[in-house]
Amino acid sequence: MPLDRRIYLDWNATGPVHPEVADVILPFLTSRFGNPSAPYVLGRDAFDAVEQSRRQTALLLGCAPKQLVFTSGGTEANNLALKGAFFSGAAAGRRHLVISAVEHPSVLATCEWLRQQHGADLTQVPVDSTGRVDPEQVAAAFRSDTLLVSVMHANNETGTLQPVGAIAELARRHGVLSHVDGVQAAGRVAVDVSAIGCDLYSVSAHKFGGMKGAGALYVRDASGLEWAQQGGRQEHGLRAGTENVPGIVALGKAAEVALRDLDANRAACLRTRAVFDDLARKIPMTRMNGHPTERLPNTTNLCCLYADAFSVVLALSVQGVCVGLGSACASHAQEPSRVLRAMGLSNVAALCSIRVSTGPTTSLQDAEFVAHLLQETVERVRLVTSPEQIGVCDDDCPCFTGGTIGVE
Ligand SMILES: Cc1ncc(COP(=O)(O)O)c(C=O)c1O
Repeated sequence: MPLDRRIYLDWNATGPVHPEVADVILPFLTSRFGNPSAPYVLGRDAFDAVEQSRRQTALLLGCAPKQLVFTSGGTEANNLALKGAFFSGAAAGRRHLVISAVEHPSVLATCEWLRQQHGADLTQVPVDSTGRVDPEQVAAAFRSDTLLVSVMHANNETGTLQPVGAIAELARRHGVLSHVDGVQAAGRVAVDVSAIGCDLYSVSAHKFGGMKGAGALYVRDASGLEWAQQGGRQEHGLRAGTENVPGIVALGKAAEVALRDLDANRAACLRTRAVFDDLARKIPMTRMNGHPTERLPNTTNLCCLYADAFSVVLALSVQGVCVGLGSACASHAQEPSRVLRAMGLSNVAALCSIRVSTGPTTSLQDAEFVAHLLQETVERVRLVTSPEQIGVCDDDCPCFTGGTIGVE
């Protein structure tokens, strides 16, 4: 099947470059190729374009342009935030970090590295069955040597939104820095970093119409950070390396377009999401993983018990439909999702969960077609999914208790 005839429903993994963004970046790949550090006209042109993008991105996030550092994406922004804060704060004896149990690997692995290699102490705060963190539990984890708390704005697997404002407020009261991984939220829900009150906020362009390999870190006050990357004086000396000008220009334009279209995109996504949310009632032994209301407008994570998710995703792929298997970063491994396990799902239930994430251009017709196909596919896969393959749930498994699992 030709690639352009596929129905793509994995926008939390990545999405296409917005057509208006593609138009704007083309000259930066050909004629406007200058190095922003160069003094001649071609360099000044690139410099101006980078600064314009900084202003556009700042408008999306509600901060001052000078509070943004461009990075190679969400992973680098998260690394910079955590390592930068740690290498600065650890010198003063503050080595304790607090994160939620459902953070992206770019946060979890960075904290684990700091723990194993640099003597950080790490506390992971649990989530409830909808994937939400209780801010009071976060505050209860704070100690006198706590340096930073990092809780994501929206989860990549379930779309569950976290109470990041309340967490930032509690962190400020305890003298703790707060970082928010906003990679899945920025450009999809309204973000105002000043209103949230956090110190650091990470974004990634390819999640909202920009290019892969570009992102930004909001830094409320740069004096609290030690910069992990040495080299040139780019980004006001905060992030060395020749700027990815096309990627940065794309980020700025994507931010402008996302802000302009926020309400319309939200409404469009909610319409198609409803089609997939509905499957939790239509397909037997199926439930939705995530918060019923506090959730990204485009994400439905469905557990179709005893239908092996890997087989479902492959069967849909053969028919030209792309949906996600847990998070993109975990999709090569047939391991139950750490996020779903933290929400109380059994191994079996986690192995039977798929993620459908729509985009603003997903049509209702495509959503309804895929929902129908998904229903059929789950039924067929259930016939061939063996207990040896994925195991069985115990009678007291959370999948069966609490009356939340589907309808017969
Ligand atoms: C929540 C979250 N944080 C960070 C990242 C990493 O972003 P990037 O792909 O730009 O490195 C992702 C990517 O999927 C994500 O979903």
